[in-house]
Amino acid sequence: MAGVFITIEGVEGSGKSTQLARLSARIQRLGLPLVVSKEPGGTALGKELRRLLLEPHPSGEVWCPDAELLLFYADRAQHLHAVVRPALDEGKLVLLDRFEDSTRAYQGASGVPDGAMDRIGDLVLRRLKPHLTLLLDLDPEEGMARVAARNGAHGAFAETRFDQAALEFHRRVRARFLALAQAEPNRIAVVSARESPDQVEAALWSRVSPLLRSAGLGVD
Ligand code: TYD
Repeated sequence: MAGVFITIEGVEGSGKSTQLARLSARIQRLGLPLVVSKEPGGTALGKELRRLLLEPHPSGEVWCPDAELLLFYADRAQHLHAVVRPALDEGKLVLLDRFEDSTRAYQGASGVPDGAMDRIGDLVLRRLKPHLTLLLDLDPEEGMARVAARNGAHGAFAETRFDQAALEFHRRVRARFLALAQAEPNRIAVVSARESPDQVEAALWSRVSPLLRSAGLGVD
């Protein structure tokens, strides 16, 4: 693998999309060969899986945690095969909106045992790891308030009704992300998403630019 592999992770409402756009723009301004993609849904087939995973089914049936896990990994296997590995082999910089740490955090919080993710993750990833993972950390209560505000008053009301259970879930997700970061402090950089967008952008760039420099990609 010759390229540089960076992933960005975070709980809902952490400003991940904004920061991903800002980071991509900075990298593009430097003229570096960049591929930006996301999981789930980074390939044509993956988009079908994304719809199956994230859109409620008219029947009301929901995926059991094991089936959900396998669908996320099917999406990842296809994405690695069709997009990520080819780009890295060509020496490009690959920037992904969510990757394996999301599975560890979200499916782990849904009750999937770590051992199951170890085994299937090994099979799908074949030891591929991001060089750097940017974790936007935020109290889920704040994140969900941001999402509610973005959706307007009606959305905020709709959201607060069912959201005690959701809040508990997102607290577990956050704790899992932070535990992953503690276990791999050299790979995962935790950045507080409470600061202003400009401050978060600067904090993320202070992690990314040394990596690009050490990979021989010219940065200021
Ligand atoms: P998305 O609309 O991309 O949300 P966000 O803006 O929060 O990234 O939806 C992705 C959802 O899928 C998000 O709730 C996290 C979840 N997810 C998992 O549960 N497991 C995974 O492995 C991945 C990649 C995502």
